[in-house]
Amino acid sequence: MNPFSATILVCEDDPDHRMLMVEALQEQFPSARFIEAENGAECLELLSRESPHIVILDYRLGDMDGIEVLERIAAQPGHVAVLLVTSQGDEQIAVEAMKKGAADYVVKDSRMAFIDHLPISVQQAFRRIQAEIEKEDALEKVRVSEALNRTIIDQMMEAIVFVKPDGSILHLNKLARLLLGIDQSEIRHLSDMRDHPLAGEFEIRMKELMNDANMRMVESEFICGEMILTIRVSPAMREHDQLVGIIIAISDITKTRREEMERLEAINRTVFALAKAVELRDPYTAGHASNVVTIATAIARRINWDEKRILGLKLAGELHDIGKIAIPAEILTRPTQLSPIERAMLKEHTENGYKILKDIHFPFPVAEAVYQHHEVLDGSGYPRGLIGDQIIPEARILCVADVLDAITSHRPYRPGLGVDKAIEQLRKGYGTWYDPEVVDNALALIEEAGGVFWLSDSTSYDYRLREIRHEN
Ligand SMILES: [Fe+2]
Ligand SMILES: [Fe+2]
Repeated sequence: MNPFSATILVCEDDPDHRMLMVEALQEQFPSARFIEAENGAECLELLSRESPHIVILDYRLGDMDGIEVLERIAAQPGHVAVLLVTSQGDEQIAVEAMKKGAADYVVKDSRMAFIDHLPISVQQAFRRIQAEIEKEDALEKVRVSEALNRTIIDQMMEAIVFVKPDGSILHLNKLARLLLGIDQSEIRHLSDMRDHPLAGEFEIRMKELMNDANMRMVESEFICGEMILTIRVSPAMREHDQLVGIIIAISDITKTRREEMERLEAINRTVFALAKAVELRDPYTAGHASNVVTIATAIARRINWDEKRILGLKLAGELHDIGKIAIPAEILTRPTQLSPIERAMLKEHTENGYKILKDIHFPFPVAEAVYQHHEVLDGSGYPRGLIGDQIIPEARILCVADVLDAITSHRPYRPGLGVDKAIEQLRKGYGTWYDPEVVDNALALIEEAGGVFWLSDSTSYDYRLREIRHEN
């Protein structure tokens, strides 16, 4: 739109003046549409009916003055450029008109010379109004985009908190208000959440993120009452990597985690039954798997493994000798030393165990840990002679736990050798066979407990001796 194709309303009570103005403008803007009013009431009526873009408004009208008409035009929605025409000596009125929203004014002189300048004033007034329209359009686009973003954020399946770098909260979506039990009218700044259980966690994660310019996300898990939540904190960046805010996304994973735990519990029960099946064939090693689990778990906790990883280690510990199910019971329980061929058969239990477990989907490297539990760091272990880092951490812990329980327990061909012998063995293989960190922690645990700490009641020496005597 431009003044050449605009609708121009000329409101002037003097018909001669009106005609002069229209003719002058028509000459400059031949494509524009002209409508005429001779008083204020007619002007307002045409304004609502014809929606002109420009109004040339004489100050002195028969029924009302131009300022009154201007005020009523300004009170209506939309953008109309009003050009007030005043008489000489009415400059004060012109100033008032500008304050009340007139785009410009022209002073009518007695010789009507202003007519020559009228088209230029119209063009300038139109430009001014056009700039206002563009500004309003841009603001409207921002408002629409903000509303759209809010709608999307409100409908997200995660609770979202948008925080400015200074800690003031810009927006909480519906789920965030529900999950956190807070309202944005009460909480305007993170410091207002001081008593909320999640406040400390938000603060820690935000600091982590803001202290490292390269970090794109910090994720943590948090137990809040009955709920297990994951909290993801990520930066909202504008161009040139300028941080404008921080997005905190919270998901309630209680149901998923509970189902996962139930699944693991079912696996656990199956695993325990399998381990018992092996032990039933060899009463001399009854309780060995659970002792290995006790030792391995204590070591893993001491080196700060998380509980999920420890659960995988427990499963591998329970199952580590499962492959013995394929070894004749007569070899397992032989009270004398085994022949080289029988020893080779016994060694096959690692590979057998792997074959039994490899197709079961555990969320942990259970089959691999079982496969590797007789591997040692220098490559002299079996079955594959793996070296150093080729042996997974789970297998390194199981290996040490296995040695500790095997040396201290009775065997068909010998009594238990005592904890000192076990310590001696671990020191002998320190760094060559056994992982030094694992050995250090195992020895520290023995020292703290003042000796063996892993024998459960059902596997105590007395119990085993009673069992052996009973069989004899
Ligand atoms: Fe074994
Ligand atoms: Fe074992």
